[in-house]
Amino acid sequence: MNRKKFIRQTGYLLVGIPLGVNLLQSCESIYYAKSSQQGSKIIIPKTEFYKNPDDTNTKRKYVLLTIENLKFPVCLYHLKKENYAAALLQCTHRGCELEVGGGIYSCPCHGSEFNTKGEILSGPATKQLKTYTLTTDEKNIYLQLS
Ligand code: FES
Repeated sequence: MNRKKFIRQTGYLLVGIPLGVNLLQSCESIYYAKSSQQGSKIIIPKTEFYKNPDDTNTKRKYVLLTIENLKFPVCLYHLKKENYAAALLQCTHRGCELEVGGGIYSCPCHGSEFNTKGEILSGPATKQLKTYTLTTDEKNIYLQLS
């Protein structure tokens, strides 16, 4: 293989691999869960995490919630068994809407990253995300707004 051909093929690989990884990460489908509200409590049925109502083994890692009077969605993440985390998808740097993917929240504006508990992984943001207190019972997850 001559030098020019080697450089061209290596260049395609270097560009292609990150593109492929990004495409695979974006394949996680975004799902807006059905929920109801009682006062300051949002009620989310646990079945909203099932990809298929007939198959309780195939679950979503997270669902998004649109909540009245909130300008941004809330992401409800299923961490393990009865452990969930909820964070407002508004970047604390300058207020852009965060993207969900690869197990983190990332900001398309200036690159801040947060984990699913809303803690900062990288700046320029210096404040963690707004998070919510959650409780559960057999059927539902309850998100406390205030
Ligand atoms: S608005 Fe998110 S990093 Fe600047």
